Amino acid sequence: MTMKKIIVLFIGLFVFACNAKQSFDREKYLKEGKEIAQTTAKTLSGHVKKAIKEKGPIEAINFCKLSAYPLTDSLSELYKVKISRVAIKNRNPENKATAKDLEIFKKYEELIAKGEKVKPEIKSDNDKIVFYAPIRLQQACLICHGTPQSEIPDTLFKHIQTLYPDDLAVNFKEGDLRGIWKLEFESKE
Ligand code: HEC
Repeated sequence: MTMKKIIVLFIGLFVFACNAKQSFDREKYLKEGKEIAQTTAKTLSGHVKKAIKEKGPIEAINFCKLSAYPLTDSLSELYKVKISRVAIKNRNPENKATAKDLEIFKKYEELIAKGEKVKPEIKSDNDKIVFYAPIRLQQACLICHGTPQSEIPDTLFKHIQTLYPDDLAVNFKEGDLRGIWKLEFESKE
């Protein structure tokens, strides 16, 4: 065999191996991821809205602090995926985006800046499959993530700072990328 043929064969094998690694049902994970993220979002925002209405925003913050994690954890258990919400400008230090998450975050931010659509994505990394989806800021979020004083009432802002001394999750505008859903599936089937 000539050197050239060997090289071609090697490249062929390499491409084949990489493709084989990718051979999982991307659409299936995408569909499942979307459903889980939507259900979790609805559950969280349903509880927050109810708490604001019944007990006011300060109690709603206490709810987020105490229950956001147990709630997502119980859904994680139910769906057998690790559900998290990560951000660059995070409130809870546990929700800081990792270097890998940042790639997706930057991509979504660029698309949003260009006025383009942002969609959920599947990334596979060794034997882990990760679903990502954008979390955009809505009007209802401004009371806790908008501009201090004009949108976040003073007493509420002080309460947030007491519970989260390193809070970065303020000064958002409607439509901004507030964070991303990150769903880690246990393994490829
Ligand atoms: C009542 C106040 C309140 C409202 C309203 C609210 N949030 Fe939050 N948000 C919080 C608190 C408190 C946390 C930290 C929760 C924790 O400790 O895990 C948080 C955390 C988050 C996180 C996780 C990342 C991080 O910064 O820790 C995302 C994403 C998020 N909020 C998005 C939203 C979106 C989108 C809306 C509107 C649909 C919204 N929030 C409405 C108080 C609020």
